Amino acid sequence: MSSSEGHPAPGSPRQDQPQVGLAKAVGPKLGVPALRDRKGGIEPLVMVTAYDAPTTRAVAAAGVDVILVGDSLGMVVLGYEDTLQVTMDDMVSHTAAVARARPPQLVVADMPWTSYHQGPVTAVANAARLVRAGAGAVKLEGGVKRLEVLRAILDAEVPVMGHIGLTPQSVHAMGGYRVQGRLRSDAKVLVEDAIAIADAGCFAIVLEGIPEELAAEVTQAVPVPTFGTGAGRSCDGQVLVFHDIVGLGGARVPRFARRYADLESLASQAISEWAGDVRARRFPAPSEAYH
Ligand code: KIV
Repeated sequence: MSSSEGHPAPGSPRQDQPQVGLAKAVGPKLGVPALRDRKGGIEPLVMVTAYDAPTTRAVAAAGVDVILVGDSLGMVVLGYEDTLQVTMDDMVSHTAAVARARPPQLVVADMPWTSYHQGPVTAVANAARLVRAGAGAVKLEGGVKRLEVLRAILDAEVPVMGHIGLTPQSVHAMGGYRVQGRLRSDAKVLVEDAIAIADAGCFAIVLEGIPEELAAEVTQAVPVPTFGTGAGRSCDGQVLVFHDIVGLGGARVPRFARRYADLESLASQAISEWAGDVRARRFPAPSEAYH
């Protein structure tokens, strides 16, 4: 990323000092080390997804701590049924769009399905594409099974966020989107996964779709912040999908999400008012024309 996308250039303000422009309005950016230091803090961390320049402007101005270019874009933006359809080209294009909005926050980009499943060489090359597009870190799903690629990406100096529990890229292997870790034996594996990826060097871990009690246990067991989504109240932070919060995700809101606005209705209403003005010849007005 360029300095304007997050990492300060030599001589630019330190991370704990106010920066200019949008950064000044929302406070200083939280880089990877500073984020890791927020483990166990009193105030929970806030991460939200964004996929393009307007959603990034909105979440940046809201002062969130971390912006995630999630592969949920497959469903909420591209209209697919699952995240398995999302390609590296999709992720690069959307990460670049987010970075071009120049948010002061750390931008984390999801590594899509198959981009890190074929060994360390392709995984590092794909992580590098996301960094060159503007990401300051990447996120990948899985625990012990992914340690080799995780280490290779970290070795290439790219910070990695982990993601365990209900991992949407494993939808077929899991037999659907099901809460994970309900059996004590599965819960034990999840705790071991979390410890292993934290030990390997993940700077934070997303816990998705697991019982609150297990999320609390994992959060206690690892020295890095956990971000919960459908994982209850005990995580170090929370993460949600932009479209679910603002009412752009269709009729269904997941039980673990909360809708704070209904932008789909608002947008529809605005377009219908404009269409009415066009049809009644109230638009454009003389002041909206060139003479
Ligand atoms: O893709 C995504 O949006 C995610 C979050 C739900 C954590 O992975």
